Amino acid sequence: MSDAILRAKDITRDYVTKGSMFKAGDVVHALKGISFDVKEGETLALVGESGCGKSTLARILTMIDAQTSGELEIEGKNINIADQKPTPEMRQRMQIVFQNPYGSLNPRQKVGDVLEEPLVINTNMGAEERRERAMEMLQKVGLEPVHYGRYPHMFSGGQRQRIAIARALMLRPKILVLDEPVSALDLSVQAQILNLLADLQDEFNLSYIFISHDLSVVKYIADRVMVMYFGEIVEQNTRDEIFNNPQHSYTKTLLAATPRATVDSIKKRLGVA
Ligand SMILES: Nc1ncnc2c1ncn2[C@@H]1O[C@H](COP(=O)(O)OP(=O)(O)OP(=O)(O)O)[C@@H](O)[C@H]1O
Ligand SMILES: [Mg+2]
Repeated sequence: MSDAILRAKDITRDYVTKGSMFKAGDVVHALKGISFDVKEGETLALVGESGCGKSTLARILTMIDAQTSGELEIEGKNINIADQKPTPEMRQRMQIVFQNPYGSLNPRQKVGDVLEEPLVINTNMGAEERRERAMEMLQKVGLEPVHYGRYPHMFSGGQRQRIAIARALMLRPKILVLDEPVSALDLSVQAQILNLLADLQDEFNLSYIFISHDLSVVKYIADRVMVMYFGEIVEQNTRDEIFNNPQHSYTKTLLAATPRATVDSIKKRLGVA
């Protein structure tokens, strides 16, 4: 771990809901000034209840959506997609993996095409090179060369999430935003995917921003934790400080609602002891 590769400063995002003839639209302040750093190779977890703004932040970090105000810097470069379209090089830095591997994979695309699409869009790699990269990534995520020609519906939920992870890694990003990546999976499959993510992080020196409502998973994988409440980060600290010495009342409430677990008992639950 070294310097910050991502810096967010006072990020806000307002949504204006559609009004009607009789009523003006409402403004939802989904993010109210979010600041944090991500260091190279670390896992920063983002926790908080439904609707607090986690996915909104994920979309801004991955350049899918623009912030309303505030600064975002990736590897020292300023990003604001409202002002300037990100270059392919910038897009390559950050990739996202969603919770639902059904929704995020196009059912009409074979796995090979799913994997190569980011290369087609963002690089001028030739077909042979793209295929090689796809084959390599299939192997890295624990899939087989024969899977290259199959369709997403032919896979289990866990395998589909492996495909989504392989796709996210095709451009060799520095940072992955993982938005509830294991929440839709069975416990034993969760463990496999969490182990895979740990191996890939080591191999590619990736930084993860790991969004989860499951504090036992967070306790298992995070280096640091940010606690979000109604669009604000109310507390951020090392994993051990958050779990052993929470400062904010909301963090205490969240922890109280979660069964007390040690990292060992979590490993046991997940079958990775
Ligand atoms: N496109 C949109 N238009 C209007 N409001 C939105 C839009 N997207 C999100 N919101 C609102 O912004 C707030 C934050 O939503 P967000 O999806 O970021 O929450 P979340 O923390 O990811 O929740 P969950 O844990 O359920 O996934 C919510 O109040 C939501 O209703
Ligand atoms: Mg969400």
